[in-house]
Amino acid sequence: MTSIPEPELGARFDVVAARKEFPILAKSVRSKRLAYLDNAATTQKPRMVIERIRRFYEEENANVHRGVHYLSEIASAEYEEVRSKIARFLKASDAHEIVFTRGTTESINLVARGFVMPRIKPGQKILITGIEHHANIVPWQMVCEETGASLLVAQVDDDGVVDLEEFARLLRSDVAFASVTYASNAIGIVNPIQEMCRLASSAGVPILVDGAQAVPHYPVDLATLGCDFFAFSAHKAFGPTGAGALYGKASRLAEMGPLLGGGDMIRSVTFERTTYAEPPFRFEAGTPNIEGVIAMGAAIDYMAALDWSAVHGWESALLREATHALREISGLKIYGDVAKKAPILSFNIQGVHAHDVGTILDMQGVAVRAGHHCAQPLMHRLGVAGTVRASFSFYNDLEDVAQLHAAVLKVKEVFGP
Ligand code: ALA
Repeated sequence: MTSIPEPELGARFDVVAARKEFPILAKSVRSKRLAYLDNAATTQKPRMVIERIRRFYEEENANVHRGVHYLSEIASAEYEEVRSKIARFLKASDAHEIVFTRGTTESINLVARGFVMPRIKPGQKILITGIEHHANIVPWQMVCEETGASLLVAQVDDDGVVDLEEFARLLRSDVAFASVTYASNAIGIVNPIQEMCRLASSAGVPILVDGAQAVPHYPVDLATLGCDFFAFSAHKAFGPTGAGALYGKASRLAEMGPLLGGGDMIRSVTFERTTYAEPPFRFEAGTPNIEGVIAMGAAIDYMAALDWSAVHGWESALLREATHALREISGLKIYGDVAKKAPILSFNIQGVHAHDVGTILDMQGVAVRAGHHCAQPLMHRLGVAGTVRASFSFYNDLEDVAQLHAAVLKVKEVFGP
C-alpha cells in the first residue's frame, strides 16, 4: 500500500566513501565523535555543494534575468538550468513546472494563497492527514479562517497509520483541495501517497504532496505519482537552507496567482495596471536566492548520481539495527513502530523528559531532535508532549547506531532503572 520501494537484496552501499564527501562528519563535538542523527531537521552538505557556493561567489556572482553583461548571463543560465535539473530529477514534464521558493513551507503557503484561497467556497473543505507537520496545517487553517472553509483530517491509528478508506470517504464530502505529507517528519510513517493521489484525482480534487521528507530518501517520480503540486526543501536534501521548490502541473500553475508582487514577476506595469509574467516567473518576485538555487542544483546532481536502491537498502538496515537495539531497553517506547517507514526513530524513555534525553545524548556526541517536531496534533494523538527523534541518512554508519544505543543506556544510568 505504501510507495516505499523494496530494498534490492544484496544491494551494497559504500558508506565509508559516502562519509568522506561530507566534511562535517569528521568533526568531534563535546570531545566525542559526532553521530549526526538529526537529518530530518536538516541534512549535512557534501563537498560539491559547499564548493559550488564558493565557486558562485568567486567566479559568477551577479543578479539574474536583469543584466546584459557577461556575469549576469552566466548566473542566469546556471540558475535556470537548475529548473531543468529538478524537473528531470523528479520526472516533471517541463522545467516551467518548477517554481523556486524558500522551501516547503513557502511552497505550501504559495499554493494556499495563490491557488486555493481564490477558488474555495464557504462550507467547502480542505483535507489533510493526522501526521502532518505544522507547515501543512497552519496555512490551510489560515485559508479556512479567511474564507469560511473548514479543515478535515483523515485520522491515524495508534502507530500513526492513516485509514485509507476514511481518506477516500472524506474526499467525497465537498473537499476542494487535499494536502498530504509523503512521510512524517516526526515518526517516519509513510502515507500511501500513490493511492491517495489516485483517489484525489478520481474524485476531481487537486492534491499537494509535502515531499520534504521524501526527496532525501526515495526516488520521486511525479509522472507516476500524479499529484497536482509537490513541495520540497533543499536543506533536507543535501542542499543549502533558504532554497526549495514547488512543482505544479502546468495547467494548475496557469490558474494560480502570485503571493508576492515586485520586480521580475511582471509582464508590464503602469500606475493603472500590472500584468503578470507567465509561470513560473510570476511566482518569483524580487531578487531570488541565486546562490541557494545554484547550490541546490549541485545537491540535485549529487542525488541524481546515487544508487537509490543501495541507499534505500542501507537506510533500512540502519533503521532496523537501531530499532532492534533500542527495543531491548526497558521502559523505552518507540512511536510509529511499523515495518516499513522512513529512517526515523522516534521514542521516549519512561519517566524522563525528551529534552533531558536529548541533552544527555548531546553530551555523548549524538545529535537528535527532542520535542514536538512541529507536529503537535500528532503528538496529541500519540498521547505525548514530545519524543526524542533519531533520523538517519545514508551517510550514517553502524558506529552511529552503536553510539546512539550507548548514549541511551547512559540516560538510563543517570535516571535510574
Ligand atoms: N521540519 C524539520 C524537522 O522535522 C525542522 O525537524
